[in-house]
Amino acid sequence: MRAIINTKYGPPEVAKLMEIDKPVPKGNEVLIKVYVTTVNRTDCGFRSAEYFISRFFSGLFRPKNKTLGNEFAGVIETIGKDVTSFNKGDRVFGYNDIKFGAHAEYMTMAENEAIAIIPGNLTYKEAAPITEGGHYALCDIRAAKIKKGQNVLIYGATGAIGSAAVQLAKYFGATVTAVCNTKNVELLKSLGADTVIDYTKQDFTKTDHIFDFVFDAVGKSSFGKCKPILNNNGIYISTELGRYSQNVFLALTTPIFSSKKVLFPIPTICKDDVIFLKELVVAGKFKPVIDRQYSLDQIVDAYKYVESGQKIGNVLITIT
Ligand SMILES: NC(=O)c1ccc[n+]([C@@H]2O[C@H](COP(=O)([O-])OP(=O)(O)OC[C@H]3O[C@@H](n4cnc5c(N)ncnc54)[C@H](OP(=O)(O)O)[C@@H]3O)[C@@H](O)[C@H]2O)c1
Repeated sequence: MRAIINTKYGPPEVAKLMEIDKPVPKGNEVLIKVYVTTVNRTDCGFRSAEYFISRFFSGLFRPKNKTLGNEFAGVIETIGKDVTSFNKGDRVFGYNDIKFGAHAEYMTMAENEAIAIIPGNLTYKEAAPITEGGHYALCDIRAAKIKKGQNVLIYGATGAIGSAAVQLAKYFGATVTAVCNTKNVELLKSLGADTVIDYTKQDFTKTDHIFDFVFDAVGKSSFGKCKPILNNNGIYISTELGRYSQNVFLALTTPIFSSKKVLFPIPTICKDDVIFLKELVVAGKFKPVIDRQYSLDQIVDAYKYVESGQKIGNVLITIT
């Protein structure tokens, strides 16, 4: 089968299209023919190993899992002998950032992992980008314990995480202020943001409004700068470690020494989360934003675009 192979850590060019053997599912696994996957910041992080800490999970000197790709949508081609919850021919989607493997024509998933049936009316292109930004946003919003009527500010609201966070925060009943560039103001209004701040015209940290939760979904702010716009028990979460990894340090100290807190939740995903996100999509409460698509042999261009920091929502890879 055709697959993208990363034999070493490095720039986008380390990702090479090669022919490798098709995987064989174990007893509890399904074999999926992948039709659509994504290139996202999680793939970029593990491919570049820019943060050395990621090597403790992915291999100290070279990648253990040579094929990246965490989001997938496709059809089950065969099932292992012990699989009871899926059948051959089922259309499925989901997420795997332990084994990865979706940048390929075929991948395997254990039936109890983060995989679910694609609802009948959804295409593979609509299903593939549900989980990456969606589960990061869900994890952080749950950590902040957002309740109905609370005020939430989302900075970097146009990324995969930010655009999901705007929609999920609205679902949980928050009043949402989203921050973005001029060209994306209308998009964020269409996603449900109550107020949109154009960061080219206004510094969002100077607004008169006070927030229960400031979510920096693009990792470009700091707790210090956002503190004045947090209410007394306000919470700040960033998707990045921050300068000198300060957000980890602040997550350990602010809950003890400050009423305004930094949290740094470790993102997790399980089958129930995938089903929860799918139900929101079916109910029309969450629609992953799709920017552009590439084919598998254009993966280097896809990585370069994602690493430009300018993608709007999600970048798809179609596999034919
Ligand atoms: N290390 C990991 O494994 C990992 C995994 C997932 C995510 N992350 C981190 O999470 C963050 C978000 O990822 P993502 O995929 O959701 O989005 P992303 O692709 O990094 O975000 C792109 C969006 O951010 C906006 N943006 C760029 N610079 C900005 C600035 N200075 N102020 C405000 N907005 C800005 C851009 O919109 P505008 O045109 O409006 O500026 C663009 O739409 C990234 O920092 C990423 O590194 C890390």
